[in-house]
Amino acid sequence: MDKNVFKDVNYGMYIVGAKNKKNVGCVINTLTQLTSVNPIISICVNKDNCTNSVIKEAKKFSVSILDEQINPNVIATFGFKSSNDTDKFADVEYEMVENIPVLLTGACSYLICEVIDYIDVETHDLFIAKVIATKKINNNVPMTYKYYQETMKGKAPQKAPTYVDDNVSKDNFVCDICGYVHEGPIPDDFVCPICGADASHFKKKEA
Ligand SMILES: Cc1cc2nc3c(=O)[nH]c(=O)nc-3n(C[C@H](O)[C@H](O)[C@H](O)COP(=O)(O)O)c2cc1C
Repeated sequence: MDKNVFKDVNYGMYIVGAKNKKNVGCVINTLTQLTSVNPIISICVNKDNCTNSVIKEAKKFSVSILDEQINPNVIATFGFKSSNDTDKFADVEYEMVENIPVLLTGACSYLICEVIDYIDVETHDLFIAKVIATKKINNNVPMTYKYYQETMKGKAPQKAPTYVDDNVSKDNFVCDICGYVHEGPIPDDFVCPICGADASHFKKKEA
């Protein structure tokens, strides 16, 4: 199977927020609007992500729709770190709605959702949820997954449903946290522009 074909599927970029004892959240690209009269959406979340178990328990979550002005550090925190050992909301602007954290930094709008059901899809769970509230924050352009990949040069980690193990030229160095590819030698003080990892995380990968 040529998995490169999946690169032709289009998505948006989102940060999901949820709360049990503490605020948790992660980047997703897998939101789909399923109905419009009483709006229902679905999101797909890896079973190993902390956010997955919190959504199952709380049965509620927020979705912030990311815009093109977002600081890449916010994606690095929410997309590559675990809420188990990081308070991801510590350095961002957010508000609590229905006792759910809602990221405001870098978001043009948000949804508040109540889980109706979920379906086991092997590595992930597909959560189906009713949208109970929405808010427009600003008129910035919503970010597409293509913009994240091609303009911001962003990558997706292995837990993202869209992860692809790209072949990389032998002269390139690959970040072992986020998969960012740097062409040529890595200076000692190099910091990954996507996830903030230091030079020790860059490994030469044979094609
Ligand atoms: C661009 C991008 C897209 C992602 N899409 C998804 C997704 O749709 N579903 C998912 O479960 N994880 C996705 N991830 C991975 C999670 O954001 C990541 O595993 C995160 O560290 C989980 O955090 P948590 O353990 O605090 O929940 C994506 C990450 C990035 C950077």
